[in-house]
Amino acid sequence: EELKIFAPATIANVSCGFDVLGLALDNVGDEMLIRKVAKKGVTITKIIGQDLPLETHNNVAGVAALALLAETESDFGFEIEIDKRIKPGSGIGSSAASSAGAVWAINKLLGNPFNSTDLVRFAMEGERLATGVAHADNVAPALFGGFTLVRSYNPLDIISINTPSKLYATVIHPQIEVKTSDAREILKTNIPLKDAIKQWGNVGGLISGLYTEDYELIGRSLEDYIIEPIRSILIPAFDPVKNKSLNAGALGCGISGSGPSIFALSKGKETALKVAEAMKSVYEKVGIEYDVHVSKVN
Ligand code: HSE
Repeated sequence: EELKIFAPATIANVSCGFDVLGLALDNVGDEMLIRKVAKKGVTITKIIGQDLPLETHNNVAGVAALALLAETESDFGFEIEIDKRIKPGSGIGSSAASSAGAVWAINKLLGNPFNSTDLVRFAMEGERLATGVAHADNVAPALFGGFTLVRSYNPLDIISINTPSKLYATVIHPQIEVKTSDAREILKTNIPLKDAIKQWGNVGGLISGLYTEDYELIGRSLEDYIIEPIRSILIPAFDPVKNKSLNAGALGCGISGSGPSIFALSKGKETALKVAEAMKSVYEKVGIEYDVHVSKVN
């Protein structure tokens, strides 16, 4: 018995929601094949597209799958094949896609004994291996789809948020790698109250805008006063890319996850494509190699 699945790329943080907000992309992601086999345990049989560890304990999909199997009494095992299309270290949830995909498919092959929040908990073990911290803001949207909020980590409480139907994401990935662990290392652990006030105002505004499908409000709320000022220095030409995106009609623009990818949200595909051209023009001018994606948020 086997399942072939699409494991979506995701944008974590979404500007104002560091470690709590995330969204899933519709057409960017990995393909995975998960097979139920007689041999117990988890075997990563093949990874195409990227050079990643095959040993189960060193592989994010392997670790997440083992976390799930530890809570079952199955006397069979699973093989995992991954066609890796998301580049590791790009900031669009590469490790999360593999972790989430593995647990989602295994749960399905087992007859769905676990709910989505359980699956987030297992997939977080993959994130712990990849980044040292078990954050859930990429694995949650990869598993639930659309926008998600990690309302609380302890106890784990994941909320699926309404996702307006005309919301599109543009993502540009300058071809450098930023390790999430490095991008977390440079963050301050204390924040001034005046910045916190602005930030939680935006989180509330964004959630409200998503439910009422008020694109203007979504746009006004897409600002990050806490993380972006620190991390943006790691990203080539961040300010010009952001300014050009906003001028091209984006609702908002910020760092995708821990970077270096930059994302923008737009109302409608046409605007999202214009934003892609605007972002590209900056990197063309300064001679930075890039990948660019335009996707519905779904
Ligand atoms: N919330 C995490 C961070 C996401 O920004 O470090 C990593 O992709």
